[in-house]
Amino acid sequence: MNYSEQLNKISSHGLRRELRAIQPLPNGYCIYKGQKMVNLSSNDYLGLATDENLKKEFNELLMQNTDWMQFGSSSSRLLTGNTGLYDKTEALIKNWYGAESALFFNSGYHANTGILAALSDKGDLILSDKLCHASIIDGIRLSNADHIRYKHSDVNHIESILEKKRTNYNRVFIVSESIFSMDGDEADLRKLVELKQKYDAILYVDEAHAVGAVGNNGLGLCEVQNVVHDIDILVGTMGKAMASVGAYAVFGEQLRQMLINKARTLIFTTALPNINMAWTAFVIEKMPYFVEQRQKLAQLSKSAKQNINIENSFQGFIIPHIVGENEVAVKLSEHLQKQGFLVFPIRPPTVPQGTARLRISLTANIKKSSLNDFFKILKQ
Ligand SMILES: Cc1ncc(COP(=O)(O)O)c(C=O)c1O
Repeated sequence: MNYSEQLNKISSHGLRRELRAIQPLPNGYCIYKGQKMVNLSSNDYLGLATDENLKKEFNELLMQNTDWMQFGSSSSRLLTGNTGLYDKTEALIKNWYGAESALFFNSGYHANTGILAALSDKGDLILSDKLCHASIIDGIRLSNADHIRYKHSDVNHIESILEKKRTNYNRVFIVSESIFSMDGDEADLRKLVELKQKYDAILYVDEAHAVGAVGNNGLGLCEVQNVVHDIDILVGTMGKAMASVGAYAVFGEQLRQMLINKARTLIFTTALPNINMAWTAFVIEKMPYFVEQRQKLAQLSKSAKQNINIENSFQGFIIPHIVGENEVAVKLSEHLQKQGFLVFPIRPPTVPQGTARLRISLTANIKKSSLNDFFKILKQ
């Protein structure tokens, strides 16, 4: 099939994607196609990315630290790209988690693809949740290990695989997200810890959607479930509640050394510039103290659940409204946009076939009244 046939096919299935220009505004709003809307599609869960006071505070520091004003790093971390701000950021992350070691990557995509491919080998087995993010899947594709996807959050399925296969392999990795990106539901991390202990496996948890947003200190779902120190490889990303860009892994020093030597997405890419690393360090330092924002997010999530009669124990700031058909999701999102609410259709392959949906994501700076109005319209 040539490219125009391929593009026509994508369009005919209601799957054509496009880039849109959106201007984020403070207080949970944005401008899209010239219209001011309530932004229900952002992962800025704590509202920090558009917080004017925070930006002002950072700008004042920037004036005193002119070496931060570097917008290109000019080489890989292994050459001259590794400025002192990387050391500072990794030290802050280590202290925040009380961990032995931390390593910073350019993005969550770089972290997941780089780590999984570098730490696994022929003779190893990777077990991953069926709903794991594309970056995890791609990391596994780059690995030489065998791979089995287990049924979503099904610990019995994991155990049955381990019972049958553990002894055939050198290392076994269990890989899961903590709060799942497209469904907002949560892994039972305690159960995963039990399994990894029982079967001598390595537990890898991607906390992309949980870090910053939940936990008394903002350490994510592992803090909520009290397993911070039981996870072998914990990945957190900066692009969501943490209002920056980049990602980190927290683990033992030996794994850090392995990755500095073997992770291709760390070695063969230009480091992030000082301006970004300075902002990242600034935000991480404050993370334990954004308690009010986390409480506000929790209250909004509770109110959203009441609005749509959902009863579960999940945090609830990612709400999937599953409609099934791709075209229905597109039409519904267009209708909601006309009413002043920015929600986008999420379609395969991002989610499984037949489960197209609106992904409603809440941020701490949205007004409760706006949320109530939104659910009224959605119900209609
Ligand atoms: C679960 C999960 N992991 C990793 C990533 C990738 O992180 P980043 O955007 O920093 O590349 C995302 C989304 O972006 C995600 O949802």
